[in-house]
Amino acid sequence: MINVVFVCLGNICRSPMAELIFKDMVKEEGVESSFCITSFGTSDEEEGNPIYPPAKRTLISHGIAGSHTAKQLSLKDVKNNDYVLVMDGRNLLDVMHLTGGEYSEKVFRLCSFTDNDRDVADPWYTRDFERAFADIRDGCKAFLEFVLKEKSELIKYNNRH
Ligand code: 4NP
Repeated sequence: MINVVFVCLGNICRSPMAELIFKDMVKEEGVESSFCITSFGTSDEEEGNPIYPPAKRTLISHGIAGSHTAKQLSLKDVKNNDYVLVMDGRNLLDVMHLTGGEYSEKVFRLCSFTDNDRDVADPWYTRDFERAFADIRDGCKAFLEFVLKEKSELIKYNNRH
């Protein structure tokens, strides 16, 4: 199993969008049985809340369904996942603070896999949920290409058994 966790600040906008977009992509690719995909926030401020309505509407307008309840990231979540994909530089610092610098080899900014390395534009402040969606989709697509190569033997094995 390839364990992937997406991380943002509140876990009501960007990381649940990424979770649902990436789940949709791995399904399209026919490799969903190889992946366990979740999301968390670095803060506990939104814990228990559903996906923020404008984010949910944006997902639905792109044909992506699903729900999520916000939860705060713990050290065990970092430890138990293979890839910790954060949305921006602040999330990266917050995760490093949580781990005391451990596990840095598996923590990546999502859009660092693209040809245009950038933070995912934070729609909480920009109010531009389409732009966040586009950044996340680019990042997820590039990460999927990366992980399909990196874990090709494991995925082939899982598809045979
Ligand atoms: P997210 O968005 O980190 O993408 O879930 C935010 C949600 C809440 C806040 C900031 C960003 N907030 O400041 O409450």
